[in-house]
Amino acid sequence: MLELQDVCFTIRKDGSKVNLVDHISLKVPKGHFMAIVGPSGCGKTTLLKTIAGLNPESSGSLFWDGRDLSTGGDFAPSEIGYVPQFSIAYDPLTVDESVEAATRLRVRCRNTAELDQRIDRVLEEAGLASISDRAVKVLSGGQKRRLGLAMELVSDPKILLCDEVTSGLDPRSEREIVRLLHDLSRKDGRIVLSVTHSLAHLELYDSILVLHEGCLAFYGPPEKLTHYFSVKDSEEVYPRLATQTAERWQSSWQKHGESYFHMLEHNRHVLIASGSLHLPHTHKSPPPADEPADADADTAEAARPATTRAAPAALPMPGFCSQFATLLSRRWRIFFRDRGQVFLQLAILLCFPILVTLFSDKASGPIRNFSDSHQSNLELEIKEQQGVRADQAKVGSAVSGIIMFQVVLLALMGSNNSAREIAGERQIYEKEKFGGLRPSAYLASKVAFLSCLVIAQSLWMAFFVNFFGQFRGEFFQHAGFLLLVNASMTAICLAISAMMRTAEQASLLSIYLVGFQLPLSGAVLALPENIEGFTRPFISAYWAWSGSVESLQTQVHDAVKSVIDTSLSLQTSCLYTLSAHIGVALVIAWVGARRPQWD
Ligand SMILES: Nc1ncnc2c1ncn2[C@@H]1O[C@H](COP(=O)(O)OP(=O)(O)OP(=O)(O)O)[C@@H](O)[C@H]1O
Ligand SMILES: [Mg+2]
Repeated sequence: MLELQDVCFTIRKDGSKVNLVDHISLKVPKGHFMAIVGPSGCGKTTLLKTIAGLNPESSGSLFWDGRDLSTGGDFAPSEIGYVPQFSIAYDPLTVDESVEAATRLRVRCRNTAELDQRIDRVLEEAGLASISDRAVKVLSGGQKRRLGLAMELVSDPKILLCDEVTSGLDPRSEREIVRLLHDLSRKDGRIVLSVTHSLAHLELYDSILVLHEGCLAFYGPPEKLTHYFSVKDSEEVYPRLATQTAERWQSSWQKHGESYFHMLEHNRHVLIASGSLHLPHTHKSPPPADEPADADADTAEAARPATTRAAPAALPMPGFCSQFATLLSRRWRIFFRDRGQVFLQLAILLCFPILVTLFSDKASGPIRNFSDSHQSNLELEIKEQQGVRADQAKVGSAVSGIIMFQVVLLALMGSNNSAREIAGERQIYEKEKFGGLRPSAYLASKVAFLSCLVIAQSLWMAFFVNFFGQFRGEFFQHAGFLLLVNASMTAICLAISAMMRTAEQASLLSIYLVGFQLPLSGAVLALPENIEGFTRPFISAYWAWSGSVESLQTQVHDAVKSVIDTSLSLQTSCLYTLSAHIGVALVIAWVGARRPQWD
């Protein structure tokens, strides 16, 4: 049984407290199908989130099977299913793949046969078996709602919370979904709470809860709704609600609530007696002789002191490695299904190094002729050095520019890699986290995926540009710094993505960050010293550029130094600073991934 005792969810608005959920008390027995209705903005979603534990109650208590959810621990992830208002599936995947990923993330199956069996059963239950190979993006509204339900059913939740799963559907599809929810409540004593605007098909529900401005205005059998509100048709309930204040509806309900609860109890006994409702056998300690069994098991259970009851054993969750592998393979699948994304990545991968090569082409002559050999003959050496000095400025600025160009393009690739990676799927991720996904497995899968992009982009850039205009120095050190700057920007933008509320905010901030890398790096123009000291530690491009310049051959290095006003740093400092950027960014990404960010 689910029981709410005087539950409030309070926010502060303009300095005063406002109850979005206002002193709600009710009992929902097992195998019950309840509609939560009310005008838009009355607090239906807020109430559902309070029950789910997403909005911690400000006062009052919630009990599940007699266990106090605020002191005895929340619902186990497999105990509860929450179908939110938004779609929780990835468009490029098929129905089957979506349900499979949901199962692998939430349930530990012993073998593939058990996994397949569970997936097939859920698809069958949700009425999706015939379209299991269809892509999510081509599903109709009703089919998407069924998929959302199927993805929750994989863990056989004991309580299913559905938010507006019928809104926007045609009357037939709406009825089909309500019928499906009704059937789901008839299995294994599952409680199904469904938030809806619609006052159609009320007869399919066991009870109707009417909310008005966060207050409970009615909770009783559907057939008593019109009688209670003294209206002829249920459609007249909302206009009728508006005729009185929420407080008056609340106080009037406090007078009548008890008798309507008895009507619900009566209806329930009738259902059980007629065989329409089967409740599972409980495996608790046998009830005392004076307590009724079966039909009243909920009532008897609720009557026992909460502290004496242990939390029921939940389904075992899959381990870190299993969740990591599922997420990583799903990420690659989504990546390869999105042709636009693949094309963009390939275009960037191929075109950026070509761009650098084109720019470096003009400078390649002087660079190639630029000698660092030392003549033994003094006269020849002086002559050579004069020639070298003539080219020094040209070569210095060309080499410095080419390195900085590579660095900035790789920084740009880094931001493109990860700016939307978490923020773009935040709601789906929050939903999966609620279902038991470990943030560590999620972040590790992102790091593994992005590392592949970073390695491919950086090494290809380094080798390609080196092939057309040989790097005059320690090539592998140069390639290492290119890799580090790409990794650093990817990690920083991943952190931004984890902290921001929307993908647009994350993209914008990441682009600004890349935009500031070049001017603040000091490679083009030197900054005033007091500003430089403050900004430099944060500019990844500077450290990669400086580290790469330090790996140049002595004469080319001197040529670069002769044209820049900015001081260079030791290679080890560059290495440590870039590693620190990556480390700090990953810690921030971890904090952001753990932080709940529901809409
Ligand atoms: N965290 C919050 N902070 C401030 N206001 C909030 C918060 N959550 C909800 N609200 C406000 O509380 C009210 C109830 O919101 P809720 O989303 O629960 O309504 P609803 O009944 O589900 O509406 P709809 O039918 O349109 O989905 C709204 O006015 C909403 O703006
Ligand atoms: Mg809502």
